[in-house]
Amino acid sequence: MIEAGSEFAVLLEARFPQATTLWMDASQLRTVELFGGDAAGAVSSGLPLLSMSPRKVIAILDGSFRHLRPGGAFYQFTYGPNCPVPRPILDRLGLKATRVGRALANVPPAAVYRIQRRSQRRLPEGWS
Ligand SMILES: C[S@@+](CC[C@H](N)C(=O)[O-])C[C@H]1O[C@@H](n2cnc3c(N)ncnc32)[C@H](O)[C@@H]1O
Repeated sequence: MIEAGSEFAVLLEARFPQATTLWMDASQLRTVELFGGDAAGAVSSGLPLLSMSPRKVIAILDGSFRHLRPGGAFYQFTYGPNCPVPRPILDRLGLKATRVGRALANVPPAAVYRIQRRSQRRLPEGWS
């Protein structure tokens, strides 16, 4: 788990001792080694991308995809009506976004987007 706020990072560490919590800015992800160098399958994000600068959003996505294996995906929840990553940023990074979930009864209504690399290599049987 990655959290920039010190109080929340301490709380997460206490509540989920079996997980690793990193107190850091997610835009620095490209500079850290995770999982002993193994690639991750997915990122699950509640980061407030809509209120970040394009530069920061690019750094977060670029850093995340450096840690994701081929076929891996970045899942982002949002309260906005559209994908919180603007199309020019998706194009620049070679990514595509698909809405995969919606919670209309939530106040405000929420949605989940899956962001993936555009050109996916064919994965071996059993990988997803
Ligand atoms: C809307 S809350 C989401 C809370 C929880 N992570 C979840 O998904 O339900 C956004 C969280 O992102 C954290 N955050 C904001 N900018 C960040 C950044 N650049 N790097 C890491 N965490 C950040 C905030 O401190 C806050 O705890």
